[in-house]
Amino acid sequence: DPGQDVTGLLGPLGTPWLMFSSFKAFEMEIIPAERIVAQIGDMLILTCNTTGCASPNFSWRTQMDSPLGGKVSNHRTYSTLTMNPVSIVNSHSYLCTVICDDGEKKEKKEKSVKVELYSFPSDPIIEISPSLVAGEQATVICRIPDVYPSDHLEVLLKKDEHVLHREDFQDDDSMNLETKIVTYTFHPMAEDIGKEITCVARLPIADMDFEPKERTSSQMQIVILNANFITKLSIEPSTTVKEGENVSIQCSAESNPPPKIILRRKPDNANMGPYSSRRILLPSVMFQNAGDYECMAENEFGNSRREITLNVKCKYNTMITVIPTAALSEGETVTMKCTSSSNPAPVISWKKKKATGESEKISKNATLTIQNLKSQGLWLYECEACNPFGKEEKAVKLYVQGLLEEPVQMIPLIIAFSSVAAVVVPAVAILIYVSRQAKVNGSYSLVKALRLKV
Ligand SMILES: *[C@@H]1O[C@H](CO)[C@@H](O)[C@H](O)[C@H]1NC(C)=O
Ligand SMILES: *[C@@H]1O[C@H](CO)[C@@H](O)[C@H](O)[C@H]1NC(C)=O
Repeated sequence: DPGQDVTGLLGPLGTPWLMFSSFKAFEMEIIPAERIVAQIGDMLILTCNTTGCASPNFSWRTQMDSPLGGKVSNHRTYSTLTMNPVSIVNSHSYLCTVICDDGEKKEKKEKSVKVELYSFPSDPIIEISPSLVAGEQATVICRIPDVYPSDHLEVLLKKDEHVLHREDFQDDDSMNLETKIVTYTFHPMAEDIGKEITCVARLPIADMDFEPKERTSSQMQIVILNANFITKLSIEPSTTVKEGENVSIQCSAESNPPPKIILRRKPDNANMGPYSSRRILLPSVMFQNAGDYECMAENEFGNSRREITLNVKCKYNTMITVIPTAALSEGETVTMKCTSSSNPAPVISWKKKKATGESEKISKNATLTIQNLKSQGLWLYECEACNPFGKEEKAVKLYVQGLLEEPVQMIPLIIAFSSVAAVVVPAVAILIYVSRQAKVNGSYSLVKALRLKV
């Protein structure tokens, strides 16, 4: 019976030993008790302390019997386990076992403490690259150094109070200390100048007692503005087209921040034409579409304007038919008909070229009939088709034979020209040439004359 034993043991020693013995009963404790939250990298000392035992025997181990990851130092009544620094390998429950052997009696006691680790040592680091040029893509990088356990990490990227991006690392199964990176790509705008980009990192582990659980860093946005415009305005297939062609007018402009583009027919033209943000399509272009077009590119820092002129040539198809087609003689009648199709329908008139070179208007009708041809010789008649947007001229040469002439195979009677210009231009050119020659000759003769005098 142990009770008897104790009584027996105490008997000879007297009451004082009994009192001392009960006061100094063998006890142990671990400091800190039960659970400790330690930051990786810090120093952690576990103390296993005893009372009531003259020479306790200490031993430390982890619950899983993995390496201790620390240095044991034994003293008379206590033992310490120093982890300096604490690392991931220290994430264990540690057991301290004390055997108290006072010769009479051997007693064993043990206690454990759970070491829980975290790491959240510094504020996030914000980096923005390449640089904040308004309208150009930029990337915000937030680095959260040495986080553990990273599966609890939550990161917010904010522009002032507005959340741009949120990311958590729930599925992160890394068991190491890692720098976590959150990136967000955006297009800074002029209105972002002076706004703050903030990276908020949280490690909200409710049952772990450490501070801080939230760390933030902010950076003021310095947005570089670039009001330079590269504006291009062009017309396809070309700036001069024929009625009926498919025409496309396009404007492109680049700037930072990106511009608003307005492409339109210039207001000072008759009835304001089509309007678009970048491209005006004119399928089967009409003469009325001709004119100046302007493109305006604008952002909050400036604007750029370009102009281009669209020329539309009228399609007339002016044609002359002459009846009769046979040789004409004095006294006969000839009918010349001029037709032209354009939109709007043209007004047709006839002119006769006088010997002086001037044109004389002779008819407002499409059909010109000359009865009783009188004057023999070569005559030039011109038909003019006119609508509000232009005109086209066609000419016909009429040769009238004299009555006395042999009605033989003479000069071709009717020659239609595609254009009066074809006749006029060479004639003018010849005139200029002749007059120049005359001048040159004149000056030579003057020099000669002077020489003769000397
Ligand atoms: C051990 O416990 C005793 C009694 O509570 C205390 O006085 C002593 O300072 C402790 N020793 C250590 C190393 O904590
Ligand atoms: C203009 O476009 C239409 C439809 O796309 C096409 O049928 C037509 O042939 C084009 N006209 C010209 C002159 O290219």
